[in-house]
Amino acid sequence: MLTGNDLGTKEAGRFSFREPVASDAPSVLTLVKRSNSLALNSGQCYLMLCEHFASTSVVAETDGELIGFIIAYIPPGRRDTLYIWQIAVASHLRRLGLTKKMLRHILARHNLKSIRYIEASVNRSHDPSFRLFQTLAKEGHCKMDQLPALSATLEGSDSSGEEQLIRVGPLDPVSKTLIGRRKRAYAI
Ligand SMILES: CC(C)(COP(=O)(O)OP(=O)(O)OC[C@H]1O[C@@H](n2cnc3c(N)ncnc32)[C@H](O)[C@@H]1OP(=O)(O)O)[C@@H](O)C(=O)NCCC(=O)NCCS
Repeated sequence: MLTGNDLGTKEAGRFSFREPVASDAPSVLTLVKRSNSLALNSGQCYLMLCEHFASTSVVAETDGELIGFIIAYIPPGRRDTLYIWQIAVASHLRRLGLTKKMLRHILARHNLKSIRYIEASVNRSHDPSFRLFQTLAKEGHCKMDQLPALSATLEGSDSSGEEQLIRVGPLDPVSKTLIGRRKRAYAI
């Protein structure tokens, strides 16, 4: 198995990105289970999401193995916003820029030219998630707003306020291409 430490320029070229298909659902489910931080939904749910949100989502593969995904969608009536529902990268390939690269792949799509904002519901106590969106704002030369999460309106939800709606933007056509471009030790 390829690990982060092995990841040189040659191996880096083996990563590929594409829209998910329904048959990716079991691999997506496995990554969610192994993440130890994402809410686990049913296999049927991931099947439907891979199928119905394919044009706004992405999977990353190497050697035929699915090693990362972003499932996202456009909220009804808000063509300028990409709402990220779940993201995960295989633990041995984290901190290599894969999430940023997956996001750039989505934002480059012709059908998503109208996207100017990225939103996600993030738990404030989960540092990697928070920092991820801070970095997206920094690299996209825009701001990151923190708003009340939709889940706060759920009856019986945790009222500690830990869950927040993060909004990164506004992104313009150039700033979208800058995400994940920064030079790093291992170029992907
Ligand atoms: C969060 C997660 C998706 C990040 O994936 P990744 O491919 O490692 O992310 P990237 O390498 O593209 O990093 C993007 C930025 O996120 C932040 N980040 C990612 N992991 C981090 C960590 N462990 N600690 C602090 N910041 C982190 C950094 O700001 C990073 O930018 P930098 O490397 O230029 O500093 C990955 O850690 C994961 O799968 N976690 C388990 C699932 C999860 O928690 N998903 C919710 C995400 S909202």
